[in-house]
Amino acid sequence: MRVAHITDLHVEAPPHLSQLFSKRALGAVNLYLLGRSAHFTLRTVEALVDAVVRSEPALVVCTGDLTSTATPQEFERAAALLAPITDRFPFLVLPGNHDVYTSESLGRFQEHFGAWSNGGVYPYVAQHGGVDFVALDVSRPDFLSRGLTPRQQLDALEALLAGGTAPAIVLLHYPLRDRRGGPYGPFTRSLENSLELEAVLARHPRVVAVLHGHEHHGYRTVIPREGAPLHSLNPGAGGYAYLPERHRTAHFNLYDIAPTGAFEVERYAFDGAAFAPEVGGAYASGG
Ligand SMILES: [Fe+2]
Repeated sequence: MRVAHITDLHVEAPPHLSQLFSKRALGAVNLYLLGRSAHFTLRTVEALVDAVVRSEPALVVCTGDLTSTATPQEFERAAALLAPITDRFPFLVLPGNHDVYTSESLGRFQEHFGAWSNGGVYPYVAQHGGVDFVALDVSRPDFLSRGLTPRQQLDALEALLAGGTAPAIVLLHYPLRDRRGGPYGPFTRSLENSLELEAVLARHPRVVAVLHGHEHHGYRTVIPREGAPLHSLNPGAGGYAYLPERHRTAHFNLYDIAPTGAFEVERYAFDGAAFAPEVGGAYASGG
């Protein structure tokens, strides 16, 4: 079964002046006046969607940060850009910290993407090709961009994983580990209780992989675990502007997943015109 994994599109749409207040004012100033908006481009997202559609996946998963500041305009634009995927393929999605950028933005993600995220009830499980895809929502409005897995989701995840035997793949916005396999940091932008979540996953070897985003340069790592190791994969930001002189471009992953849970990874990189398989193999570029 072919599964496409996209993440961190950071779709932008300039806010109205009347929307400039609270944290969003800082975000908008950062984004549109200080030039951060040059880090992400709609053109890249259009090419990404085109490449994913042409790969004819059995399933597409997106691990959050579809928008930059969670405004209604950004959600509308993200939904329109993703329509060629959501109209044709099974799609699973969850919010990233930028999709719940301010407390007044809560509910917007569900309004636009609830049809592909169990109506906003987490964790949720979707079965495809004999594999359980389990999605968590660990994002919340937080001035420091810290995530947290709520106790209710940790308990529900434990029960859900204990109640089945099929191979499982967990979808999450935040990384559990950094690119060297160590604890993910800094504290100000990480998942606060990542060790608690990792402990749940350690107790259930049927979880073969965690797919995540948040860190815009992609990486894969293996989390040591009694019995089989736990694979952790981040394709890197799918909306990244093409800046080869800064070693920066957009990526997505294609996984070929067997009903046993065994999988192979193919990573695609944007070359300024289109997405093509990464030269040298998945993650050969180092980020
Ligand atoms: Fe993020």
